[in-house]
This record gives sequence, C-alpha cells and structure tokens, in this order.
Amino acid sequence: MRKIEVDTRNFMYPTLTTLVGANVSGKPNYITIAHVGILKYATVSVSLNKIHYTNAGIKENGTFSVNIPSVPMIQVTDYCGLVSGQEVDKSALLKNFYGQLKTAPMIEECPANMECKVIQILDLGTHEVFIGEIAATYCNEDCLTGGKGEDLLKVNPILFSMSGARYFAVGQEIGRAWNIGKVLKSKEVTFHTPPPLAQE
Ligand SMILES: Cc1cc2nc3c(=O)[nH]c(=O)nc-3n(C[C@H](O)[C@H](O)[C@H](O)COP(=O)(O)O)c2cc1C
Repeated sequence: MRKIEVDTRNFMYPTLTTLVGANVSGKPNYITIAHVGILKYATVSVSLNKIHYTNAGIKENGTFSVNIPSVPMIQVTDYCGLVSGQEVDKSALLKNFYGQLKTAPMIEECPANMECKVIQILDLGTHEVFIGEIAATYCNEDCLTGGKGEDLLKVNPILFSMSGARYFAVGQEIGRAWNIGKVLKSKEVTFHTPPPLAQE
C-alpha cells in the first residue's frame, strides 16, 4: 500500500470523552475533555487550554475528578464542551457528589468516577496538563462483572475522534491482551517476515 504523508496529523484517536470536574470558587463545574491519558496505573493526565474556566478551580483546590459518561449521556457531554462555566451553571444539569478529597465534584449519572489529587502541572504554552494521582475510584455496581472487574461494554463510554469531530461507541471484544499473540511464539518469525493476520 502506498503511504501518503498527511502533515503532522495526530492519529491517536479515538480517545475517551470525559467530563472533568472541579470546584471553581466553591461551585462544581464540568468540562468535556478528550485529551486524556494514563501515565501509569493510577496516574492520569488531562490537557486543558488555558482559556478555560475550569483551570483556576483545579489550581485553587489541587484536585479534580474524571467522570466517564456513557453513550446515553452524549447530549449533556457535548453541552459541557460547548458552554463555559463562566456563563452557565453546568452542574445544575447533573447530580453532584463528593468523595474522600471533598473538593473534587463527581457526577452521579456517570458510571465511573475518579477523584484525583494534582501532583504536577505541565505548562505547554497554550495548554496546561494536569497530572493527577487517583485518590479513589467509584463505579456503578452494574458495570462490574461479578462485583469485581469493570466491564467496558457496560460502562459504554463515548469515544471521540478529531477527524470530523465525531463520537463513537465501543465495538466488540476482539481478543485477550498478553495472550492472543502467544501463538506466534511457537512460529519462526523473522524481522523481514510480517506476522500473519489473526484470521489467517
Ligand atoms: C468532545 C469535546 C472534547 C473536548 N476536549 C477538550 C480538551 O481535551 N481540552 C480542552 O482544553 N478543551 C476541550 N474541549 C473544549 C471544552 O470542553 C470547552 O471549551 C468548554 O466549554 C470549556 O468549559 P469551561 O469554560 O467551563 O472550563 C472539548 C470539547 C468537546 C465538545
């Protein structure tokens, strides 16, 4: 297949569409954030443009929450990314609750919530990246399989793609990690031989 150079486009989509919560001047505010990451197991990053209202609240308290909305919450999730807490009380649309940290508002309607303590802030010029350590995670009981492992299909998160600014839902499971590739261990694979596709 011929490769086409497409400027410096970022192909690291889809990402999770999240609602990041912070108390701003003592009042809960939620911002839609798709540029989120896992830095190590309980350490997360959220990248916020400095123009946003939410940033001051995260700095004020040193805390924030990451809430995972599910597909039926698509309208309110998009809305929180369309309007600013500077003008609108977005928290009025949602049921808020607090956990251990007391200052990181979370959303009851979201099946999963993580309250985080800021451990570092990266200044990227236009953006601030807040790095948070998860202090506690909350999950709807019906999203846990056998009361333990979280079930992605039950959480039913909203995925985001920058290309065309579109939302997607999670598809089907296609294999087990650290497992499906084991079959190649028993075959002779050289650097110049591409591994066979799973269907072959
Ligand atoms: C799907 C979606 C994803 C977004 N992702 C980000 C993001 O990763 N970083 C960012 O700074 N803004 C992002 N935004 C924009 C903010 O959510 C938006 O400007 C919001 O209204 C700011 O809220 P605030 O002023 O109350 O803080 C996103 C918006 C949408 C709709």
